[in-house]
Amino acid sequence: MPNQPLAVQMRGIVKRFGTLLANDHVDLDVQRGEVLALLGENGAGKTTLMNVLYGLYSRDAGDILLDGQPVHFHSAHEAIVHGLGMVHQHFMLVPTFTVAENLILGQPSPRHPLLERQRDVYRRIEALSARYGLQVEPGAQVSQLSVGQQQRVEILKALYRGAKTLILDEPTAVLTPREVSDLLSILRNLAARGHTIIFISHKLKEVMACTDRITVMRDGRTVNTVETGKVTPAELARMMVGREVTFRIDKSLAQPRDPVLRVVDLWVDDDRELPALRGLSFEVRAGEILGVAGVEGNGQAELETALAGLRPVKRGLIQLCGQDMTAALPRARVEAGLAYVPSDRYGLALLRDFSVADNLALEAFDRLPYTRRGFLRQSAIDGQARALVSQYDIRTPSISTRAGQLSGGNAQKLVLARALDRQPRVLVVAQPTRGLDVGATEYVQRRLIEARDRGAAILLISTELDEILNLADRILVLYEGECMGVFDANRASPETLGMLMAGRKA
Ligand SMILES: Nc1ncnc2c1ncn2[C@@H]1O[C@H](COP(=O)(O)OP(=O)(O)OP(=O)(O)O)[C@@H](O)[C@H]1O
Ligand SMILES: [Mg+2]
Repeated sequence: MPNQPLAVQMRGIVKRFGTLLANDHVDLDVQRGEVLALLGENGAGKTTLMNVLYGLYSRDAGDILLDGQPVHFHSAHEAIVHGLGMVHQHFMLVPTFTVAENLILGQPSPRHPLLERQRDVYRRIEALSARYGLQVEPGAQVSQLSVGQQQRVEILKALYRGAKTLILDEPTAVLTPREVSDLLSILRNLAARGHTIIFISHKLKEVMACTDRITVMRDGRTVNTVETGKVTPAELARMMVGREVTFRIDKSLAQPRDPVLRVVDLWVDDDRELPALRGLSFEVRAGEILGVAGVEGNGQAELETALAGLRPVKRGLIQLCGQDMTAALPRARVEAGLAYVPSDRYGLALLRDFSVADNLALEAFDRLPYTRRGFLRQSAIDGQARALVSQYDIRTPSISTRAGQLSGGNAQKLVLARALDRQPRVLVVAQPTRGLDVGATEYVQRRLIEARDRGAAILLISTELDEILNLADRILVLYEGECMGVFDANRASPETLGMLMAGRKA
């Protein structure tokens, strides 16, 4: 398309955070009507670049052109007026508002939103939903919607405001497989109707399935742009991390010993006080990984929080290392040998405003080596933090950086480092590689196998069937809060597991 100006052109973009160079003279070209993937390691600078494009961050140098016209935004509001829309890594909807209310909220329209008649708003939403296959109910309250539906609302919100170019930052990280395939077809549909999509994902399968071209970033620079059809996942992984990534973990056969986590007839309610776990029983032995496979929303959230002591148990038993812990406080469980890596890392595992070092010392700050005779020892906290940062390859400007400033993948490495460093006897991990790049995913998975081989009992809750098949020694399929069966990982076929995950008995 020689005469058509590029939808987005970024030239020599520089963005610094203090001494950290997050974007180092980045160039990016996006053609109108294409789906472009932005790929790169955790911390490579993808989100930063998109925040610069969207007017959320001001750049230190460089030019941005939209449809050939230079622009300089001072806020997202200005970007929206110029036809940009962004769906963030963490949704930004108001949960207590309806879909329609969220859509008109903060709209850069000169008219007062209240003056816009509800019927007109509903009609516009319905027209947009129908046009792009984005089914949602305009009157539904956002807090009642599934994650996938909330994301549709985010996309609709951008379209409602007239977005021609849509930026989606890891939109599939929290979706079920079905929701992912729906989203990918929505994106193709948008592109076919002349919209331009910038799609950030760590999942190479999705990138291969729905994009036209791929731009790879590394260490704050763009290193390559390729046509999707002319490249393999292995080549992409190498461009991103600079080494071979195997996508498969070699592990020896588990040598399980005594059961150290026992769950018997567990009944737990969800937030709406409806039963989410219905009589679940299983045990995890020292030296094995029990994978809990299932589609998101089948009781996983309630299982992880109940085991950690963050949610009451209605009936049943939780036993840790022989002790009844059904009603124990989280603290007592940690002391009994439990470590917990929650799926909601920002809500439950990290204090965003605290430093990396303090976050690494969390839960254990009142013990040796961090505290002696009642005094906090900052030098011990810092020393340990430095060791963990280097050992777990947590990319951070320093150990005093606030945890909220880490890139998504690096925040997750921090949480894992803290959990594994305790050498727990029982490890409950939920979605441990969500949002991680291919290199970090491989790294984390190896660490989990090592912990297993040191004798930890690991409960791995994951909605990624590939991850379960890669790591688990035995697999429990969870559906609507019940166990659909437990299988030897060697003997379970993905097809059978998939059927059971959908609630169909084989
Ligand atoms: N607001 C901020 N303040 C300070 N540093 C930041 C801020 N936002 C990002 N950074 C740093 O800039 C670098 C790039 O981060 P960015 O979030 O753009 O990475 P990313 O490519 O999106 O990674 P991920 O795949 O993990 O989401 C990281 O080192 C990160 O810690
Ligand atoms: Mg990011």
